[in-house]
Amino acid sequence: MTPVVVTLGVVLGSAALVISLPYWLPPAVVALRVRIFARVNGANSVAVPGRLVGVERFRQVYSHPAADGRSRGAALSDLFWYWLSPGPHVHQEHLEPGERYDQAARATRGFLHMPRAEAQELTAACAASVLDDPAVRAGGLVRLRDLMMPVWAEFYHRLVFGQPCPPHARRLIVDNATDVANALKCCGLRHLDRRDRLTAYLRPKLAAGEALRPLPGLLSADERAWYVHGTFFTTGVVQMSEAMAHVLMALAQHDPVRQRLAACEPGADRLLGHVIDETLRQYPLFGVAHRITSADIDVDERTRIPAGAVLCFNYPQFQRAGFADPDRFDPDRWLRIPAKDANFIPFGIASNRPCPAWHLAPITMVTLTREVLARFDLRTSARHTRSMPNRGPCLLVPRAGGPSRSRIAASLLYLRLRDRFEDVWRSLAQLGFGSYMVPDARRQGLCTGYFASLSPRRADP
Ligand code: HEM
Repeated sequence: MTPVVVTLGVVLGSAALVISLPYWLPPAVVALRVRIFARVNGANSVAVPGRLVGVERFRQVYSHPAADGRSRGAALSDLFWYWLSPGPHVHQEHLEPGERYDQAARATRGFLHMPRAEAQELTAACAASVLDDPAVRAGGLVRLRDLMMPVWAEFYHRLVFGQPCPPHARRLIVDNATDVANALKCCGLRHLDRRDRLTAYLRPKLAAGEALRPLPGLLSADERAWYVHGTFFTTGVVQMSEAMAHVLMALAQHDPVRQRLAACEPGADRLLGHVIDETLRQYPLFGVAHRITSADIDVDERTRIPAGAVLCFNYPQFQRAGFADPDRFDPDRWLRIPAKDANFIPFGIASNRPCPAWHLAPITMVTLTREVLARFDLRTSARHTRSMPNRGPCLLVPRAGGPSRSRIAASLLYLRLRDRFEDVWRSLAQLGFGSYMVPDARRQGLCTGYFASLSPRRADP
């Protein structure tokens, strides 16, 4: 072979590799992440559904009274405690069963209990406070998760304190939630200074008795600030922003569904409920939720899961099983299948620590989706995946006086190219950040260290 042919081969090969990167690299990174999660727990990890527990026994095992350990004894917990710091030992989702958990769960229910009409009114007011800003009203390219965060910062500030959120507090809440979400997806490292600034804002307000509802009595003043921070301003704001970004991305990608909603055809309300269900089925916010078994679980006559096992419940896998054409976004499938009979658990399992926002979240999502659609048409050419590391790039087209068709087409072309290009460098960045954070979380061992430090008599953290 002549040197020219070799050089040409190398150039063409390199070009083919670079061009193909957007197609295989991002999914490969996601697959690697799933494998790392499975490996972190080592031999005592049990994938559900999986070899020992099929889809048909998923609910049975998830609901089992012995599937009740939350943090202690799972190496995976060190990762979540690291990502959700500060104060992970008092976040409701990490507390072991016991009096402190019961108090936290009661307090959360107290805050989240809100009549439907009040929830709708509050959501609409928070939506207006963000969407009617002239800079937003003008439309253009946005990241939907970023667009949604200030709405939920406002909402949860008003829900906890009964007062509008001052602009500097909104920035603190959004900075904290953005930092947590980016770290969880390995799109960036943690910045604990940003998170601590929010705790510092909350602590004196809570100490002065400004919270609208009672806080868990067993917690110290610092712990109460971390509990409120973790439950409402981390979990609440992150989950609602992610969920809404998924709903709006799905609508932006499916013109006929969006047009049916915009036309307010009869049954549009019902359709919107089905859009939200279908979105949460296809893009569940949890990839894996884990539990540690406190006693043996007999799955059937031949299968026993031992005490101390880490059960990893895989939501995406469960919610694909048993659906015809599961990868198709089809809100109308819910006309044919009652949600309660389907493999569909967007808010967890009722008998085992389900989401306390189970009732409130869908009501507020319906209202916010309507508020967005009343002001904008949505268009996107970006990729929509469950972990959504691109934060939902989308074109907001104002209902009145929007850009011309050719401008929209040009924006969508630009969006597609930018998204594919970003996918490549982001995947590499995720690999880099993940390679640093996973071992760092293991080294810090926040959860392991916490339980090791407890005296045997104080086993009720
Ligand atoms: C659409 C939005 C949401 C979805 C899809 C969602 C989903 C879930 C799921 C699946 C679980 C159970 C995980 C498990 O079994 O370990 C859960 C737990 C939890 N969620 Fe949500 N969530 C959402 C919104 C919220 C909001 C707004 C808040 C707070 C304001 C919240 C707070 C919590 C807490 C504290 C837990 C732990 C419950 C416990 O362990 O007792 N979630 N969520």
